[in-house]
Amino acid sequence: MSSSSALILFSSLLIFSLIYSQGNALSSNYYENTCPQVEDIVTQVVTEATKKDKTVAAALLRMHFHDCFIRGCDASVLLNSKKNTAEKDGPPNVSLHAFYVIDSAKNAIEARCPGIVSCADILAFAARDSVVVSGGPSWDVPKGRKDGRTSQASETIQLPAPTFNINQLQQSFSQRGLSLEDLVALSGGHTLGFSHCSSFNNRIHNFNNTHDVDPTLHPTLAATLKGICTLKNRAKNAGSPMDPSSTTFDNTYYKLILQNKSLFSSDQALLSNPKTKSLVTDFASSKDAFFKAFANSMIKMSSINGGQEVRKDCRVAN
Ligand code: HEM
Ligand SMILES: *[C@@H]1O[C@H](CO)[C@@H](O)[C@H](O)[C@H]1NC(C)=O
Ligand SMILES: *[C@@H]1O[C@H](CO)[C@@H](O)[C@H](O)[C@H]1NC(C)=O
Ligand SMILES: *[C@@H]1O[C@H](CO)[C@@H](O)[C@H](O)[C@H]1NC(C)=O
Repeated sequence: MSSSSALILFSSLLIFSLIYSQGNALSSNYYENTCPQVEDIVTQVVTEATKKDKTVAAALLRMHFHDCFIRGCDASVLLNSKKNTAEKDGPPNVSLHAFYVIDSAKNAIEARCPGIVSCADILAFAARDSVVVSGGPSWDVPKGRKDGRTSQASETIQLPAPTFNINQLQQSFSQRGLSLEDLVALSGGHTLGFSHCSSFNNRIHNFNNTHDVDPTLHPTLAATLKGICTLKNRAKNAGSPMDPSSTTFDNTYYKLILQNKSLFSSDQALLSNPKTKSLVTDFASSKDAFFKAFANSMIKMSSINGGQEVRKDCRVAN
């Protein structure tokens, strides 16, 4: 890297952190003196949990994304409903699960360094570790997030929807300081996990006035999905893996997009803008380029800050 591009990178990171930290300065050595074992503890808990249940890694990655997009990464997604209905009990919560993994990491950490580590940081570590145990890249997670005190189901409407077109996606990301490159790289999270029929039914039933099925969805995949997600199928767990290697973090997702075999309109939409299309092509042909971009964009997304306290119990505000 030339010194001028290093300077530009450094100043944009600085500006970014000034805008998004809201007073909680994140740093890489935040727990160095107060809880040096914290990351090892989380890694151990996540590794054990993913061995027992292959769906955990995807769940933790999506949980962190969901957390960061509503009120910043403040662990609002972890709070239980009390008088009000919390995010976790609002739509679209069908795929939110594995909260117990965060609880067990928090318990182990509280036993060593009580009152020090925020739930928001634990979730950010857990998301990174989920990617690593699935074969993806690693990165240094910025630390020092604070936990928020509010969680409202009504706010989950601010999450991007799988029916979004490229303009809606761009707007949703740019409102959080995230670029088109971040959009393409972070959508690569869809290399892991499972989707329920409700998330792609729009493409296979009554797509629009002239087409029952989205013509940009590959006919073979469309037929398979229609077979699973019939209009009569009311099974709560009906759906499809995100990609055929849905427990491995790789660049298959981008290859599938180029074959018209991605699940969501929002995935397919990445082909409808020249810049995002060219990034999809780059990431489909280079796993390395994808891994680098994903790690960078995760650091950006996980730096959207918002909380005020270090919660004692991740499910309840202090
Ligand atoms: C670009 C906008 C995004 C949209 C519209 C979107 C939408 C969705 C939808 C609808 C599902 C399926 C939910 C279900 O039916 O169960 C899903 C699953 C998932 N998403 Fe996204 N998502 C987006 C971005 C992201 C990002 C940024 C990440 C993480 C970096 C991510 C990670 C995941 C993962 C891992 C799953 C699988 C969850 C599981 O198996 O438990 N998504 N997403
Ligand atoms: C999702 O929300 C429903 C109520 O809307 C609730 O009964 C369910 O427990 C929630 N799921 C999770 C995983 O929290
Ligand atoms: C339905 O969608 C296809 C593909 O996006 C498009 O070409 C067609 O014009 C749409 N029809 C209507 C009536 O919107
Ligand atoms: C993907 O869909 C587009 C639009 O319908 C079509 O032009 C293209 O040939 C398809 N590509 C593949 C690989 O099926």
